[in-house]
Amino acid sequence: MNNLVLQANNGILQITINRESKLNALNRETLTELHEVLASAFQDEGVGGIIITGAGSKAFIAGADISEFAAYSVEEGRDLARKGQDHVFNFIENANKPVIAAINGFALGGGLELAMACHIRIASLTSKMGLPEVSLGLIPGYGGTQRLVQLVGKGRAFEMIMTAEMISAEEAYRTGLVNRLTEPDELIFQAQELLKKIMTRSPFAVSSAIRAINAGLRDGENGYEVEINEFAKCFDSADFKEGVNAFLNKRKALFTGK
Ligand code: COA
Repeated sequence: MNNLVLQANNGILQITINRESKLNALNRETLTELHEVLASAFQDEGVGGIIITGAGSKAFIAGADISEFAAYSVEEGRDLARKGQDHVFNFIENANKPVIAAINGFALGGGLELAMACHIRIASLTSKMGLPEVSLGLIPGYGGTQRLVQLVGKGRAFEMIMTAEMISAEEAYRTGLVNRLTEPDELIFQAQELLKKIMTRSPFAVSSAIRAINAGLRDGENGYEVEINEFAKCFDSADFKEGVNAFLNKRKALFTGK
């Protein structure tokens, strides 16, 4: 991997975007590597959860790499957005295990879109977020116009996207864009602690919950119906038998994810 640093520890895979001199901007190669790493992590039973962060203290990700698409045509622009959404952003959202964004600095454009595709966002108190695309003559193309509305509501999304202005970590927390704030030097620890807690729960059920929550936000899908079916499938899992048995016997459940 030329652009990512991977660290695996106690079932947690930390993926660090490592292009610090370019504020971790997402170029094509980084997106390809991200897809490969995520695809193998989703298959790997030894990985219980994933943290995505950026190298250095200045930026999480300062957006898509502007230098790469400066001369793009309409078709190339469409291809960039479609492939990016399919291979990375939607791929993360539909992961079968929890993915947390640990926002350690600027999360702009595609960087904020990547954070929004993660299931949970924890941000350092010094981070800043925004979707500045209209200041480049573009709009967000990696799902930002959709996911920002889901997280902060239509009015705030219009304001953030139309003004292109950054907001502080505190404002991101107040508006629901991020789940938690931490001191910068606590960020990874807090993300790990949160993942560790989630990983004590049934991985089978957590994966079902991800599918049910996402279904309600997808056009043409009935989230309630998906919930009914995912709920039903849980009854056939070893995790459900273990969870109920542990509860009845007043002991801690030890889940296998099966
Ligand atoms: N794409 C490509 N390169 C980027 C980048 C991006 N999205 N964001 C930052 N960089 C590069 C800069 O070109 C610079 O490279 P250089 O040293 O080779 O010239 C390096 O990262 C450092 O950035 P710089 O702008 O010098 O840092 P700064 O502290 O003055 O400003 C930002 C920080 C985040 C405010 C500024 O870099 C910025 O506005 N970036 C673009 C954000 C954006 O529009 N993202 C949406 C893209 S669709």
